[in-house]
Amino acid sequence: LKHIAFIMDGNGRWARRRGLPRYFGHKVGYDKMKAVTKRCSELGLEVCSIYAFSTENWSRPQEEIDELFRLIRENMHKDTPLFMEWNIRVVTMGDVTRFPKDLQDKLAEIVETTKNNTGCVLNLCINYGGRADIIHAVNKIRETDERFLSGAKGSYRGRADITEQEFDKLLYGADLPPPDLIVRTSGEQRVSNFMLWQMAYSEFLFIKPYWPQMTAKQVDKCVAAFKKRKRRFGKIG
Ligand code: IPE
Ligand code: IPE
Ligand code: MG
Repeated sequence: LKHIAFIMDGNGRWARRRGLPRYFGHKVGYDKMKAVTKRCSELGLEVCSIYAFSTENWSRPQEEIDELFRLIRENMHKDTPLFMEWNIRVVTMGDVTRFPKDLQDKLAEIVETTKNNTGCVLNLCINYGGRADIIHAVNKIRETDERFLSGAKGSYRGRADITEQEFDKLLYGADLPPPDLIVRTSGEQRVSNFMLWQMAYSEFLFIKPYWPQMTAKQVDKCVAAFKKRKRRFGKIG
């Protein structure tokens, strides 16, 4: 088990249930993201991905989007010393160029500050969509082709086929192993456009708690459940 990916879900419903504004759920949700990453790091995992903002989440009310961005901008910065202490390297997955400039700068700063940390990677998936990821990769091939037409090296044109391995390298997070386990909280059993290519052989867990109810113990339970799975990758047992 190298890589666990979490589809964080249920922040809003958790807050509602307590008669609180959705924003409060995101606030607690952010803290849980930290706790979960810390636990993954303690367990010696290589990567902990957190799906925090999808390409479809732009359809939410602007105030909620602003609150989410504010949480990331302010907290990630404030918590950088913690990530350093926990030896966590932060990376992002998704098109961050659509974010406000100050948020992009803060994200770049934390990625840069933590880049030499050797423990768990926190892969923050923001403005991420599985389809957008694939299309982004396809467009990279096209750009390479254009360079080829102007005489540059490294083109795919003229070759019969692009291989799966080559395509894989063009996706976001190409240097990370694919998720072994994908956990979605809040009881919803769907993928919501997450890592469509990368999940080809992932195991899935759909758990009841809302994301703000996540604990280190829950992470341990997920890991224990994963260990009982028999992965076959198309082979026989
Ligand atoms: C997950 O919680 C956080 C994000 C998708 C940003 P939600 O905000 O989706 O919470 P619910 O699903 O409405 O309860
Ligand atoms: C999935 O949660 C996306 C993220 C966790 C970022 P959503 O709450 O946006 O998913 P749907 O709309 O219920 O499918
Ligand atoms: Mg949701």
